[in-house]
Amino acid sequence: MPTIAGIQLDAPVILAAGTAGVLDEMGDVLDLSPTGGVGAVISKSITPLPRDGNQTWRILPAGSVGMLNAIGLANPGVDAFVRDYLPKARSVRTRVFVSVAGFSADDYRIVAQAVDAFSRDNGGIIPAIELNVSCPNVKTGREFGGSPELIRELLDTVRPHVSTCKLIVKLTPMSAELVAIAQAAIDAGADALTLCNTIPAMAIDVHTRKPKLANVTGGLSGPAVHPVVVRHIHDVYRKAAKARNIPILGLGGVCNWEDAAEFILAGASAVQVGTMLFADAGAPKRIARGLAKWAAKQGASDVSQLTGGVILP
Ligand SMILES: Cc1cc2nc3c(=O)[nH]c(=O)nc-3n(C[C@H](O)[C@H](O)[C@H](O)COP(=O)(O)O)c2cc1C
Repeated sequence: MPTIAGIQLDAPVILAAGTAGVLDEMGDVLDLSPTGGVGAVISKSITPLPRDGNQTWRILPAGSVGMLNAIGLANPGVDAFVRDYLPKARSVRTRVFVSVAGFSADDYRIVAQAVDAFSRDNGGIIPAIELNVSCPNVKTGREFGGSPELIRELLDTVRPHVSTCKLIVKLTPMSAELVAIAQAAIDAGADALTLCNTIPAMAIDVHTRKPKLANVTGGLSGPAVHPVVVRHIHDVYRKAAKARNIPILGLGGVCNWEDAAEFILAGASAVQVGTMLFADAGAPKRIARGLAKWAAKQGASDVSQLTGGVILP
């Protein structure tokens, strides 16, 4: 089974941030345990203050290609999250990671520090924090993950305050400089990378001529983004992550074990699943089983032996 920055996962599928509830609500409809294929669940992105998020509509189907969302980071805020949600991590039957977001570097620091302290005081119960760097910095209007300099600045603020949890940086797929950004994140202390977040997108109701999402634009996820992410993982693995032994969590449009296997061959050590959970809550189990059978057919005792195993022409 995969080991991510020293964290042993008992199954190769991780539930992506924002798609499983604030913490573990998805447990109502699927088996949140390694037997159910779930090696970890990632919380909703948490900010220092509570947020109601955007007006509706904020989730839409995007034809056969996936889903559009503009949730607007609705979350209970760090104080309520630590008080009311994190203690539940003890009874979740898989690993719990926490996603952190913000609109200033200090926002990220405040949340990460609180989660790290909770984990330290509770025997390391939260093994990892994932930084969602696709949020705009209120000062500059630019995303925290938008350039190597910005990601370095963010990590320089957060990294010194996180000692119990491993730090995963979740990158945006939109930058032409993605390899340089990944490299900067690694140099600034990222323990693992998640590739990738959603792709900015928009839908228009042709009858009313109005944008379908109240927020006007949103993020595209699901099958359409998958090949884009395969390529990003392939590039980042070969040009930045492999040499430093930094694991990649592949995320984007994984619907079945073949999609997951593609990410592994491109360079991922484990996969995350988001949109597919809305269509089929049994997806993690199917994917985990399929991956295990595939690994055996490929002569590998474990999926992790196939990381980066694409055979190039
Ligand atoms: C409804 C919804 C809410 C999401 N909320 C978050 C979030 O809070 N933080 C985050 O980092 N990503 C969030 N995402 C992005 C997913 O974690 C994931 O990066 C994206 O959906 C691509 O993966 P997928 O194609 O498997 O869904 C959200 C996605 C959806 C569909």
